[in-house]
Amino acid sequence: MSEQLVVVSNRGPVSFERDENGERQVSLGGGGLVTALSGLVAHRKALWIASAMTEEDIEVARETERGSVEIELDEVGYDLCLVESDPDAYEGFYNTIANPILWFIQHYLWDLSNAPDIRQVEADAWDHGYVSVNADIAERVVQQIEGLDDPLVMLHDYHLYTCPALIREQRPDAFLHHFVHIPWSQPDSWRILPRRMREAIFNGMLANDIIGFHTRAYCRNFLHCCNELLGLEVDYERWSVSHDGRETWVRAYPLGIDKQRLERAAESDEVAEYEQELLRRRRDHLIIRVDRADLSKNVLRGFTAFDTFLTQHPEFRERVTFIAHLQPSRQDVPEYREYLERIEALVAVVNHRHGTTDWMPIDLRIYENFPEAVARYKHFDLLIVNAIFDGMNLVAKEAPALNTRDGVLMLSENTGAHEEIGDRALTVNPFDIQEQADAIHEALTMGPEARRERAYALREIVNRRDPGDWIDEQLADIKAKRAG
Ligand code: G6P
Repeated sequence: MSEQLVVVSNRGPVSFERDENGERQVSLGGGGLVTALSGLVAHRKALWIASAMTEEDIEVARETERGSVEIELDEVGYDLCLVESDPDAYEGFYNTIANPILWFIQHYLWDLSNAPDIRQVEADAWDHGYVSVNADIAERVVQQIEGLDDPLVMLHDYHLYTCPALIREQRPDAFLHHFVHIPWSQPDSWRILPRRMREAIFNGMLANDIIGFHTRAYCRNFLHCCNELLGLEVDYERWSVSHDGRETWVRAYPLGIDKQRLERAAESDEVAEYEQELLRRRRDHLIIRVDRADLSKNVLRGFTAFDTFLTQHPEFRERVTFIAHLQPSRQDVPEYREYLERIEALVAVVNHRHGTTDWMPIDLRIYENFPEAVARYKHFDLLIVNAIFDGMNLVAKEAPALNTRDGVLMLSENTGAHEEIGDRALTVNPFDIQEQADAIHEALTMGPEARRERAYALREIVNRRDPGDWIDEQLADIKAKRAG
């Protein structure tokens, strides 16, 4: 299958900004989706269609014919096509519907007695935001595949649920594949959405030929939703559902890590400098977490567990540091801003309670810095991944792959990664703070032999798959489905 891939996502691999001198700057996109797709385009020739998210992205889109610009990432060149939408529509799409509403539904984040309220604002953001940005993107996809026989379009994530049906209307012959990088939640969680929105989402998604998720549990949830919310007949043996005369396959493709890219980074001079600083300052034990500052990551309960651990095991005072490296995210959404404030306030309390004049128990770093994160991956004794729910969580695989100290992984049972590597980790319930405090103690007191065995087994599993396998499995199913 050597045809060109058309990859479509809201966030592109890079975004453009102007610095204070008026110079155009390019920065890499963050999050699991961009990591996955960068691996994908490194393996295949691809055209990547994404939203123009910044003012400078819009400038770039306007300067180039049909908004297409050549990009080189990790020495692989490809075309990036940035799609401009009306700014108000984009605001409603991104900041009112996709994040928070859809994200919150799919990670079970609502406190339902208080939120969400679906008012006229949300209804408008749906009609004139989510639906119209999806239409802009669909229109661009249709333009780009014009003249191609049997084009293959691979859409990504929760921003683009209504897009496939719009492409399908114009191109019944196109092969549409949609990978969802986040959990698919159970049927009742979708009842939060007004019926018309919910049905538009499912009708949009069922215009795809194949829908992919990271785990089989999310596939099952999706099929249950089709059955319960739309009354469709579902074939649980074939993992498929039929709608409008079309059969959609629902399949799990767990994403693997890009070991080569990680190793290249790990060997760089920049990482070596961060390592020196880290080693100079380290205490007996180093605990780390590396996350987007997202409510689903459960940062607050992680700190409370550490607080509990220090109270219950005072012998560890001054001997352990917890570095929490958080990348700011979605700061235009009030819930996210508030979350960062609560994180800072809690860190101040814990540090005040246990800290001494020359020891700060939690070292909170709120910024994006990949080389610095990689330095920490190499030297942790315990990595905390305690997400409430998480589609996959690549950090749980990437950090152990680079770790040199037989570090232990604490892993929430509600992450996609848990399906693959749960039995090599200390499994925790993300709501059980005492269990997390006990797991910290267990990790820091575990004998060297047990640590070595676990770390070895963990590395062995995470090294088995890379993003090339992830895409190859999807392409194999595409081929099989096309062949009927
Ligand atoms: C998750 C989502 C991606 C998203 C990323 C970063 O990984 O699955 O679709 O791009 O978070 O979030 P952002 O809102 O900054 O694109």
